[in-house]
Amino acid sequence: LNYNCKRERKFVIDTLLNGLGRLEYRGYDSAGMAIDGDTSDQILIYKEVGKVRALRELTEKSVSDPGHIYETQTSMAHTRWATHGRPLPINSHPHRSDAKNQFTVIHNGIITNYKEIKTVLLNKGYSFESETDTEVVAKLMLYIYDSMRGNKMAFHEMVKACCKELEGASAFIFKSTHYPGEMVVYRRGSPLLLGIKTEKKLTADFVDVEPITEGMVEIQEGSVTDETAYARRAHTHLFSDTGDEAPGVEYFFSSDPSAIIEHTRRVLYLEDDDIAHISAKGDLRIHRLTRNDGVSSIRSIKTLEMELAEIMKGSFPHFMLKEIYEQPESVVNTIRGRINFETKQVNVGGLRNHLSSIRRCRRIVFCACGTSYNSCIATRGIFEELTEIPVSLELASDFMDRASPIFRDDVCVFVSQSGETADTIMAMRYCLQRGALCVGITNTVGSTISRETHCGIHINAGPEIGVASTKAYTSQYLALILMALQLGEDRSSMAQRRAEIIKGIQELPEKIKEVLKVDSLITDISKNELHDQKSLLILGRGYQSATCLEAALKIKELAYIHSEGIFSGELKHGPLALIEESLAIIMLMTRDSHYIKARNALQQVIARGGKPIIVCNNEEQDISDKYRKIRIPSTVDCLSGILAIIPLQLLSYHLAVMNGVDVDFPRNLAKSVTVE
Ligand code: G6P
Repeated sequence: LNYNCKRERKFVIDTLLNGLGRLEYRGYDSAGMAIDGDTSDQILIYKEVGKVRALRELTEKSVSDPGHIYETQTSMAHTRWATHGRPLPINSHPHRSDAKNQFTVIHNGIITNYKEIKTVLLNKGYSFESETDTEVVAKLMLYIYDSMRGNKMAFHEMVKACCKELEGASAFIFKSTHYPGEMVVYRRGSPLLLGIKTEKKLTADFVDVEPITEGMVEIQEGSVTDETAYARRAHTHLFSDTGDEAPGVEYFFSSDPSAIIEHTRRVLYLEDDDIAHISAKGDLRIHRLTRNDGVSSIRSIKTLEMELAEIMKGSFPHFMLKEIYEQPESVVNTIRGRINFETKQVNVGGLRNHLSSIRRCRRIVFCACGTSYNSCIATRGIFEELTEIPVSLELASDFMDRASPIFRDDVCVFVSQSGETADTIMAMRYCLQRGALCVGITNTVGSTISRETHCGIHINAGPEIGVASTKAYTSQYLALILMALQLGEDRSSMAQRRAEIIKGIQELPEKIKEVLKVDSLITDISKNELHDQKSLLILGRGYQSATCLEAALKIKELAYIHSEGIFSGELKHGPLALIEESLAIIMLMTRDSHYIKARNALQQVIARGGKPIIVCNNEEQDISDKYRKIRIPSTVDCLSGILAIIPLQLLSYHLAVMNGVDVDFPRNLAKSVTVE
């Protein structure tokens, strides 16, 4: 939204499209936008199936250049990943109340009771054009408006009335021809932040939530200066109306900072049940859906540290390849300032105040989805060894299906790159409600999981854009090991083991650089041996079990080749039946205490005519030259999964490229799955 800034329509459209482009990793089967027409009672909607590029082409065809010039205007855009309704233009957002576009809405999330609302509205004569849950919101707004019969209420009051009827997890943005120049947003359960761009001076570094009754906002002791306290008492919006000639204000709402960082670094994260309203004069007010619910009445304005260059591709053809190659640095960023290599001490600031409670717990539950879950599998063994606390693993969705018992003396660790995965958030809230101590391990500062857990670790891997997670996996893996090292530091019997691991961590970045040199060998293997395979088995055990699962996941999601990660201890219980000469097999055989058993699995495979490709250590001499080998440096057993996954990440990448897959955007997937 811009207020008092002269902007051409083309500028508005470009701003929206560029922002959408950066959000595309969240889902990309269709995109759309709503912008102001030439008069205040006109809203123009454009929608297209496919990636943002398709919407760009549509608007280039449809909108005259440079178009209308606006002093003040609001516009919205959305990129969709289908939940309800197929990817068709009609199902794309924005959704509208009627043919006159009186109310337009975009939505991220799911409305679980939309069918009930739709039935009521159908009975009242409102008609629907899409198969989506979102459309009921636009229609419900019109119904509320029609019911006012001339007693026009404020736009945010309408949104409040509407959102009170909705169930599920959502973030919405509303626009209306009846409230030109205004915009209202609401969030419950899905992320939403506000960026503020202005050359004017902000009157405060926070925004008050609008008091329910006049005078109810309390000034927090010690947190504000006299000047800002005055600003708070005086008004609950950000700019005093000085009437000066300074350029106006632009507001950006987004699910993710990457969409707005090129415009502003000043952001405000909305809380669940916040309704933010921007008036036609550019004033921002935040209201609450419900009263007295104990949520803080201050939303502070933060400055984002993220660099735009960090989220750009650089010289790499794909984000995924860039992210694979970033791993020597991303692991350094995960450990930076957290390990003293001289004294062999680990100090993770985010856990400091809760260490003794964690150590006292009766069990630790790791809970995550996808690749993040695999990082939990990878580190469970070393966690149990260093802490002597039993660790159980939970896929967030299955955990919620079972509504598994959780107790006050449990510690629940939620691992999530985005910090916004709906299943993981649901599981976290479930555990919070039951009084467990909740730890968040995320890559996204300010994300829901990092905000709502009691304590945690930011893995600091930097923005990960490629849908297939790579550097976040290795950093999650390392962050979990740091946590285990810190928890286990009071156990003197473990001192030597801890020292060995810490030394291994110190050497890790150099070893990752060395592993990356296998890239040309992997390209060759992809081209000559694997890219036309229908199926691929990846076998390993112990510290490499998770590597197998993670590699198989990467190959499935990127190369669209059926791939299965198999714990080789289970080989004889079924998978052996599949083995034959023509089946593609990769076996992980790094040297550790499980090596002898891994050799047994190799014998079983060879005996059935299998011709596996072997991932082994540089020094490996005992495996016949008949088998193709991918050699990696040796390291401490519990860290070897970090090195071993890298050639397999590269393998999945090259297979994807050879199979013509849009690597950063594999079909049907989204980077951050913010729906259940
Ligand atoms: C999606 C992504 C995966 C990711 C999973 C969990 O499925 O495509 O790469 O591992 O979500 O995401 P999170 O952000 O919670 O780690």
